Amino acid sequence: MEEIRTLIREHVDPKFTHVARNIPYGKQEIDYKDIAAVVEVLQSDFLTQGSRIAEFEKAFAEYIGARYAVAVSNGTAALHLAALALNVNESSNVITTPITFAASANCIRYCGGKVTFADIDPQTATLDINKVRALLEASPRGTYTGIIPVDYAGYPVNLEAFRKLADEYGLWIIEDACHAPGGYFIDSKGEKQFCGNGKLAELAIFSFHPVKHIACGEGGMITTNDPVLYDRLLLLRTHGITKDPEKLQENHGGWYYEMQYLGLNYRLTDFQAALGITQLKKADKGLARRREIARYYAEKFEGTNVDFSVAVNVEGHAYHLFVIKVKNRKQLYDKLRENHIYAQVHYIPVHTLPYYQGLGYQKGQYPLSEAFYEVCLSLPMYPSLTQEDLDFVIQTVLKYA
Ligand SMILES: Cc1ncc(COP(=O)(O)O)c(C=O)c1O
Repeated sequence: MEEIRTLIREHVDPKFTHVARNIPYGKQEIDYKDIAAVVEVLQSDFLTQGSRIAEFEKAFAEYIGARYAVAVSNGTAALHLAALALNVNESSNVITTPITFAASANCIRYCGGKVTFADIDPQTATLDINKVRALLEASPRGTYTGIIPVDYAGYPVNLEAFRKLADEYGLWIIEDACHAPGGYFIDSKGEKQFCGNGKLAELAIFSFHPVKHIACGEGGMITTNDPVLYDRLLLLRTHGITKDPEKLQENHGGWYYEMQYLGLNYRLTDFQAALGITQLKKADKGLARRREIARYYAEKFEGTNVDFSVAVNVEGHAYHLFVIKVKNRKQLYDKLRENHIYAQVHYIPVHTLPYYQGLGYQKGQYPLSEAFYEVCLSLPMYPSLTQEDLDFVIQTVLKYA
């Protein structure tokens, strides 16, 4: 193994982590320790269902402050399993935000449920709790089943307030924390509530897509404090199959298993989990750098016509994205691309996507989300963004905004 480590160290050219003047909006950071960890698993007996999964889950649960974590193949699978574990079905009606990746809503559709959107709070571009309350008050009790708030861009949604509302109406919460591992908000007692810590939502989900804080290529995690949901998730992740002698209805011998639910194969591989483990060790450092970049953007955009108010400077922001609002968004986007700066738009409101239009959702239904979409732009934000590139991005934005 030491030989491999040396080989990798020698072959990881520093230039490899910094492609000249191609500046994406988000990017993974892979070093030789990450590569060595993956190679080690590739040389072992188990590429999947080995020991790295449980190790990654334990480390992630500790990092987030939740009791249980279940690793899955991606964030979308995490959302789907979360919905299944909460028994979402044709009679479910779940509230979420239009300003998110489609998967936050799709997970309800996979289970045959109905999605109801509620507009955003324009200050944070996250689900507006007042709009959710208005929906609940305007409908007979029992109309809605759950809420999926999204920690958009890394802004930690106040789940204490959502929990209170959800309890009043008997709803569950899935926190879509894909943008916010390590993020937290300060609750009414002055305590830090880390995104996905299992105290305020039944389930929370994360993604390990390369643009996210922790990169596994593809990968996802579900966290919870509920042992019943945890057991159900473990079963659902592997076809609904168990070999646990205590759970079997019969037992024919060592080979025997039972499929007790209609589950899926949403497993993460061991080499992805190995990468997750080494990535997680750098997570705090990466988060600190993201916050530093955000402060620098804010400092440089202060007093200019670049509106960065949605990248709210709150303690605990995880800054997956640094989102600005500009009137000439398309022109700026194109100019940035000409300069090899690949800014991105997050998000096209989900209800305006053709699939959702086909289900009868109307353009104009959520005007604040639609207005936000017209002007938002996510600037480069990742730990390995160099000072030189950061300055170049800022100069180019100020030149064309
Ligand atoms: C808010 C949000 N939810 C869910 C997902 C889905 O995650 P994945 O791409 O890992 O399936 C993403 C990823 O883009 C996301 O940003």
